[in-house]
Parts: sequence; structure tokens; C-alpha cells
Amino acid sequence: LNFRNAKFITSAAKISQLTSDDGAEVAFAGRSNAGKSSSMNALCGQTNLARTSKTPGRTQLINLFDVGHNCRLVDLPGYGFAKVPIEMKEKWQRSLTEYLEERQSLCAVVILMDVRHPLKEVDQMLLEWAVASNLPVLALLTKCDKLKSGARKAQMLKVREAVMVFGGDIRVELFSSLKKLGIEHLSGFIEQQCYA
Ligand code: GTP
Ligand code: MG
Repeated sequence: LNFRNAKFITSAAKISQLTSDDGAEVAFAGRSNAGKSSSMNALCGQTNLARTSKTPGRTQLINLFDVGHNCRLVDLPGYGFAKVPIEMKEKWQRSLTEYLEERQSLCAVVILMDVRHPLKEVDQMLLEWAVASNLPVLALLTKCDKLKSGARKAQMLKVREAVMVFGGDIRVELFSSLKKLGIEHLSGFIEQQCYA
């Protein structure tokens, strides 16, 4: 796959507005501000492919990026962010759920969690759902530059242990967009899933 030449395709509020549902899509999901958009930029070696922000709730639509061979990356709105009006929140959560449940080309999920605050209730719900839907998961512990190497390794082992209760195919790796750490795990996972 050609991550370096990834191209923005479209933004949509509902799945009916998305491009045709063939080929393979890997969705990037996680709580608001977890670092989804940043990880996509780091993977693709582009600074402004997906919009990032210090303010949680930046990504409000489903954004699709083409990486060739009929494979797409999907930047999803973050879940569980409280500081937006309730109607708006419900609207995104609806489009998020709709995407996850109805998109046929969805073949794998990358779940991003801040290494300092992993496995919140919403993350656990998403993991449970992915396993029940037979979707392979890569759980990335993001912003790992915020912890010293011993502490982040310990955190990774703790999370690996904790996700065993879900069963299914869940891999856990450390990631930092800032320090470009763990990118090979992300690219390897996506290639494996898209060509599967
Ligand atoms: P929403 O679109 O709001 O759901 O957020 P998001 O998950 O797409 O997060 P985004 O990539 O916009 O990043 C949120 C904030 O975290 C930004 O201020 C980033 O600069 C910061 N951030 C992202 N990745 C890293 C990282 O690897 N290290 C550090 N230190 N900060 C990061
Ligand atoms: Mg985002």
C-alpha cells in the first residue's frame, strides 16, 4: 500500500454519503483527543492529511483516505467527548454506530487509547463489539512519548493482559506520532488486513 501517497477522498455525516462500499477499509476509532488523526498523518508521512487539534472533538465527520489497491483508511469522530451540545453528540454517535455496523468493506479496526488512560468504558465497549463482529483489532497506546520507557512498557504489558478477557484477535502496541514510534506495527497491521 502506498501510505505516502494517501489521498483524501471524502467526508460524510452518514454512510449513505460515502463512496461505494467495496474493497477494504480500516477504521481508526477511539476517544476524542486520543490521537487518531495524528496517527494517520504519522503513518502517511504527511502533516496535514487528517486535521488534528488540541481541542477534543476536532473530527466530526467520517473521513475517508485512499491508500491504493481499493483500500481506504477511515478517520472516525472521537467518542465520549462531553463538551459538545447533546444533540450534536448524539448525531455523531449515531453516524459512528451506523458506520461500524453497516459498512461491508470495514475489515479491521485500530483502537487508539492514550497510554496514560487506556481501556475506559467506551474503549471496552468497542473492543467487545469488534470481537463480536469478528474484526481484528490493533490497539495502539498513543502518546507513549509522555511516559518513560520502563513505564510505557509496563503499561503495554498490563493492557495486553487485560484485553485477554475479550478473546478475539486483539494486538496491543505502543505508539507515538510525535516520536514516530510504532509506525511499523500500524502499517504492517493495515497491509495484512487489507490483503487478507
Ligand atoms: P478528535 O478528532 O477530537 O477525536 O481527536 P483525535 O483522536 O483525532 O486526536 P488528534 O490527532 O487531533 O490529537 C489530539 C491532540 O493530541 C493534539 O494536540 C496532538 O498534537 C496531540 N498528540 C497526538 N499524538 C501525539 C503524540 O504521539 N504525542 C504527543 N505528545 N501528543 C500527541
Ligand atoms: Mg481527529
